[in-house]
Amino acid sequence: MLIAPSILAADFLRLEKDVELVNSHADIFHLDIMDGTFVPNISFGFPVVDAIASKARKPLDVHLMIVNPEKYVKRFADSGASMISFHYEAALERTPEVISLIKSYGVKAGVVINPDCPVEKIFPYLDSVDFVLVMSVFAGFGGQKFIPESLDRVKAVRVELDRIGRHEIPVEVDGGVDPTNAPQLKEAGAAILVAGSSVFRAPDPVKAIELMRV
Ligand code: DX5
Ligand code: ZN
Repeated sequence: MLIAPSILAADFLRLEKDVELVNSHADIFHLDIMDGTFVPNISFGFPVVDAIASKARKPLDVHLMIVNPEKYVKRFADSGASMISFHYEAALERTPEVISLIKSYGVKAGVVINPDCPVEKIFPYLDSVDFVLVMSVFAGFGGQKFIPESLDRVKAVRVELDRIGRHEIPVEVDGGVDPTNAPQLKEAGAAILVAGSSVFRAPDPVKAIELMRV
């Protein structure tokens, strides 16, 4: 299991310390980009992403929660993103073009779905994505409670990926992930766990990461 701490929950006054935690003990930097329009919240932008990129020794996974994601793909690719995901709900019929655009920069392309979007909506795109991000809370805020129905949604995406022969494509899960639900998420077929509060607000973040490596 790969662990992707969500920097949204990091200590922004001591960001370098949290960047080093990910470098030393986790696998991927998960960076949440919110525009105040696709989601009601605003997170952080290029200066913060570029600062993290300058110290990161693990891949950057940029989760775009923005309208018109195609507008910013190149900029995040230039920042050094290895993975960029965008919401299906923000792209709809433009989804194939956004996937191609992300890939055109040599970046892995992921499609994200919110908990109220039927998983079948993204099935037509599973033959071209590099990963799938299943939200287990509604995108917009850290620190929300895991929605248990997400387990079936992870499983449904995993089963469909396997059915079309794309066994190597990972399913990533984001929102309310912690050591209590990590084993069930593994069982459902998750390969990458995003975790914000359960890492950075834990009394022992290194231990929290290890507990989720089920
Ligand atoms: C929510 C973000 C998540 C969030 C996860 O919109 O996409 O990545 O930071 O935070 P926790 O793990 O606290 O739910
Ligand atoms: Zn996220």
